[in-house]
Amino acid sequence: MGRTAIVTGGSRGIGAAIAKALKEAGHQVAATYGGNDEAAAKFTDETGIKTFKFDVGDYDACKKGVAEVEDAMGGVGILVNNAGITRDAPFHKMTPEQWHDVINTNLTGVFNMTHNVWNGMREREFGRIVTISSINGQKGQFAQANYAASKAGDLGFTKSLAQEGAKKGITVNAVCPGYIATDMVMAVPEKVRESIIAQIPVGRLGEAEEIARCVAFLTSDDAGFITGATISANGGQYFA
Ligand code: CAA
Repeated sequence: MGRTAIVTGGSRGIGAAIAKALKEAGHQVAATYGGNDEAAAKFTDETGIKTFKFDVGDYDACKKGVAEVEDAMGGVGILVNNAGITRDAPFHKMTPEQWHDVINTNLTGVFNMTHNVWNGMREREFGRIVTISSINGQKGQFAQANYAASKAGDLGFTKSLAQEGAKKGITVNAVCPGYIATDMVMAVPEKVRESIIAQIPVGRLGEAEEIARCVAFLTSDDAGFITGATISANGGQYFA
């Protein structure tokens, strides 16, 4: 059954692959983005998926953005919290700004979006929420105290809301990608990236589509008995 789906950070990288997979699954998809107008316009041209520009770190902007999507497409049945940023630095060099930016987008952004679709899902007694966490939220990572804390926070959030949503037909799950061939991973210095690939038993970076297929399954009507779960898709790099 086709539903209204929001994918945050949905015009590039893993989010774009998720938005396309959900469209292929028959859903009406709204992809949100924070700033890159050019990438968003190109994405809409190529896919026909509508984009909405707002900052997931801003509660009021999320409230307005969700209302716009619902006016255009109907009540949201699927939310994929994908938008995320890195501000990597060894902790002795990490600034309060780097800490707050990452927590605000990756963790508070998940609260902001979920809070604004939650009551509608409760009323309609159906919801599928998937948050894209990270292998680094499970195992920690050098120079990512901020990012790892935000992504570990996403897992605690997921497990708590799974308990609250269960009686209302809302499932809440997380996917923890390992290192995927996206701009975010390509921004890591080449030498560091090579040493990371050497730690991945399948011997390569993941593809965004491999994460999108996990999300397509978790958001399907068939996945109603799966909630509070974390799917790790990391090429065997870490067994949570
Ligand atoms: N483990 C142990 N030591 C490490 C290390 C590691 N993984 N990475 C770097 N170091 C060491 C270096 O060897 C260096 O040591 P020395 O001082 O003895 O030479 C020191 O730490 C780094 O010092 P710098 O002053 O050079 O550090 P910097 O301020 O220039 O920062 C960096 C460099 C930001 C840490 C850079 O190395 C980097 O980006 N590392 C990658 C971090 C990473 O993996 N990020 C993941 C991004 S992808 C993602 O987040 C998506 C996802 O969900 C998986």
